[in-house]
Amino acid sequence: MPLPPPSPTSTAVVTGASSGIGADFARELAARGHGVTLVARRSERLQELAAELGTAVRAEAIACDIADPDARAALFDRIAERGLTVDILVNNAGIGTIGLVTRVPPVDEVAQVRVNVEAIVDLTTRAVQQMVPRGRGAILNVGSTAGFYPFPGQTAYAATKAFVHTYSEGLRAELAGTSVTVAMVAPGPVRTEFLRAAGMDEKKFAAAFPKFLWMPSREVARIGVDAIEHDRGNVIAGRRNWVATRFAQMLPRAFLLKTLREQHPALRRDRSAR
Ligand SMILES: NC(=O)c1ccc[n+]([C@@H]2O[C@H](COP(=O)([O-])OP(=O)(O)OC[C@H]3O[C@@H](n4cnc5c(N)ncnc54)[C@H](OP(=O)(O)O)[C@@H]3O)[C@@H](O)[C@H]2O)c1
Repeated sequence: MPLPPPSPTSTAVVTGASSGIGADFARELAARGHGVTLVARRSERLQELAAELGTAVRAEAIACDIADPDARAALFDRIAERGLTVDILVNNAGIGTIGLVTRVPPVDEVAQVRVNVEAIVDLTTRAVQQMVPRGRGAILNVGSTAGFYPFPGQTAYAATKAFVHTYSEGLRAELAGTSVTVAMVAPGPVRTEFLRAAGMDEKKFAAAFPKFLWMPSREVARIGVDAIEHDRGNVIAGRRNWVATRFAQMLPRAFLLKTLREQHPALRRDRSAR
């Protein structure tokens, strides 16, 4: 039973539902009949999406900064107070620093580890400790094609996503036979608010990545939800991103790193500003 069927007393929690891929995960789950709990910091955005989805399924907004350990601990209580159990957890919220490590504020480097790594471990641990005794549940984590090899220009971000990949695969193996499944979807480039949040010039960044690798966020969400529905484990979003990632992994590592270092738009920008 990879994707638990919808029920009036259970919910699919989506972190980072206030924009981009997260909003589309919520739309995709709602379209399949699941009640959704929308989590992020921007409450108004969540309320708007809850109103949009609420015409078809139960949908509620819970404002929560998942970088804050106390807020994370309270999140499951806030859901339980509504009489709901968490059947599906989509760990989608993510942020990334872009640019030379010598120029990135240390506080931002650490913040991305809190959101992309610490929060996923905490929320997942809490969720599976409820799901396994109940005998139903699914976890979907969001990685990135940038997490399959070191990525100069987004060094710490790529390392957080490599963690997500390894963590998801290990946890999936641990939970085999428990009726709780774990999947991970690694998107390639997707037009969302991610680059703006990282202070990156979207046009310059877009020009550096081949057009054929870009995917709509709703398509990424569909592939991710399918990964839990069909119990696929770790997947790369889209055949083209799969081929590009596997090709990059086969290149001699020194050549790959030199090419990425020379081509990354943020590194070109930072070098010229030195
Ligand atoms: N866009 C891409 O090209 C791409 C490629 C590969 C992987 N990804 C991954 O896809 C996921 C979604 O990113 P996106 O592209 O959709 O970016 P996005 O549009 O910037 O969305 C990021 C979401 O994360 C939430 N968030 C950030 N910090 C948070 C915090 N402390 N507490 C709670 N929520 C927080 C944001 O909500 P608030 O600001 O309202 O809190 C927002 O809803 C991320 O994990 C990202 O790493 C994106």
